This record gives sequence, structure tokens and C-alpha cells, in this order.
Amino acid sequence: MTMNSKPTVLVTRRLPQAVEQRLQRDYDARLNTHDEVYSSDQLLELASGATAIIPCHTERLNADVIARLPASVRAICSFSVGYDHIDLAAAKKRGILVTNTPDVLSNATAEIAILLMLGAARRAHEGARTLRSNTWADWSAIGQLGIEVTGKRLGIIGMGRVGLVMAQRARGFDMEIHYYNRHRLSPDLEAGAVFHEDLRDLLPQSQFLSIHCPATPQTHHLLNAERIALLPDDAVVVNTARGAVVDDDALIAALTSGKLFAAGLDVFNGEPNIDPRYRELDNTFLLPHIGSATRETRDAMGFRALDNLDAIMAGHEPGDRLA
Ligand code: 8YV
Repeated sequence: MTMNSKPTVLVTRRLPQAVEQRLQRDYDARLNTHDEVYSSDQLLELASGATAIIPCHTERLNADVIARLPASVRAICSFSVGYDHIDLAAAKKRGILVTNTPDVLSNATAEIAILLMLGAARRAHEGARTLRSNTWADWSAIGQLGIEVTGKRLGIIGMGRVGLVMAQRARGFDMEIHYYNRHRLSPDLEAGAVFHEDLRDLLPQSQFLSIHCPATPQTHHLLNAERIALLPDDAVVVNTARGAVVDDDALIAALTSGKLFAAGLDVFNGEPNIDPRYRELDNTFLLPHIGSATRETRDAMGFRALDNLDAIMAGHEPGDRLA
């Protein structure tokens, strides 16, 4: 009897069919057919004998979990661009390579940011609810008035891959782009966008504010009460990055008081158990973390994760190495 020579890969969540097919062709793939979210203990048990793990952002690979991973695990190839769920230093310490999936989800995520911006500004949630609850009494010249997006100033926090696409799309609405980033971009990438070295200078300009920075200890609760106070009255906040960048108490207070006109949110602290107060507010347009959820992008994310895995298995440097 010949031993199966394919490396074993633990795939923590259900992935698109084409991705799972490639996984099964090239690896001894431990797939999650029921798509349940594994506890850390389940994950550790299932990782027994695995050479690599393909997690999603729903698995918390913190220092403790990484320290307890079986010795067989050589790589963590995340099906995500964000990596706040993985302790890179702990992985490095154990000699485990970590990769992510940048680039391929920038268009899809920027599309959702545009949807949230429009949905929040034009009160799409209230309008849609009127139809679904069959309470649309009459057309009104003064009812459900929103804020026009065209020609307004858009502030972008984090002018990375997604932020850049967001800026490009927003130019289609004649928006004036301002941004805050760790460093200023080259003039060709900036394309006329105004750089602010200090976030405190970006905020008063931002009639619309879209968050595109990663969740790190430095960006934790970056959007807090003090910074929200610097936004113009009636500003609209959009978040497609990570919930941790926003202080929920501060955002909810500003939405309740009327300081902010609205917020469009795709990401939340404590997903999927979001702060319930968001649901009670009419001026929130909420989506369940679907920034990258297009057929094209989810396939591309899976293939990108597998390209990284293939490279590692072949002893090559993976394209998207984080640790
Ligand atoms: C994914 C994301 O849906 O890639 C990311 O960082 O937030 C989303 O695009 C998710 O992380 C998949 O694991």
C-alpha cells in the first residue's frame, strides 16, 4: 500500500468550488464541508499532522493557538488580505510562514465602500424598509431627503490598495479626494488627491470619510469621540476595513446626536454579534462583512492563497509573505 504523498492542508472554512477542487487535486485537503466555525481547540485537533492551514479571518490564530499548533505545521496561508487574526510574531518565532491575499479584493471592497457611501447618504435602508414593510404611503417632495455625494470632499484613511481604488471610483462622482496615510504617495498614484500628514487635518475636510487602513494596535479605535468631533457636521462615515478601527460608543453617540448624518458599515467589532444599537439607528446602512464577496474575487482569493501555498511547498519564496 502506497502512502499518500500529498501534503495535508487544513482548510478552516468552506471555500468556492473551484478553489476546493484545486485543493483536492494538489493536496490531501481537510475541508470543512459543513462550514462550521471551529473553536481553537477543534482547530488544533484538526491541524494534527497538517503541513499547512488555510484560515479565514473568522479563526483567531493568536499567540497561544500558534504556540500549540502541531510541529507539522509549516505554513499559514490566509484566505484574506487582513491579518489581524494572526499573531505574526508568534508564527515567526515558530518558523511558520504566513501569507495573505492582497490586490485581488481591492475592486470588490471598493465597490462595497461606494455602495455604503451611497446607501448611507441616500438613506437606502429607510427607503428599502418602506417598500418591504408595505408602508409606502405616498411620494413626497420633502420626504427621505439625503445628502448628495457628487462633488463632495472624500477623506480616505489608509491610501493602500483598496483606498486607491476607492479614490478612483469616487472621482467618477466628481469627489475631491483627501487622504491620510503613513507616507505620502508618488504624484502619479496621488492623482491630485490632497495628502494630510496629520489625521487631525484630514478630518475637518471629510464630508465623507472612508476607512481603509488595517487593524493594528496603532489603529485601534482610531475613530474615537475626539476625532469624530473634528469631522464637519452631517459627515458620513464608511467602514469596510475592520470594526476595531472604530470606537462603537463614540460612533453611535455621534449618529444619535445628529453630529453625523449617517454611517455605512460592512465591518464591526465582535462580528457577527455586532453592537445591537447599530440596528436601532435609522441612519446606519449595514452589511454583513461582504466587501470581498463576489464570485470573481472569492475565487481569486482562494487561488492566490494556493499560489502562496504551492510556492512554499516547492521551497520558493511565496508572493505574499507576511512572516
Ligand atoms: C474576507 C476581509 O471576507 O480579506 C479580508 O481581510 O476582510 C474579507 O475580504 C475575509 O477576511 C475572509 O477571510
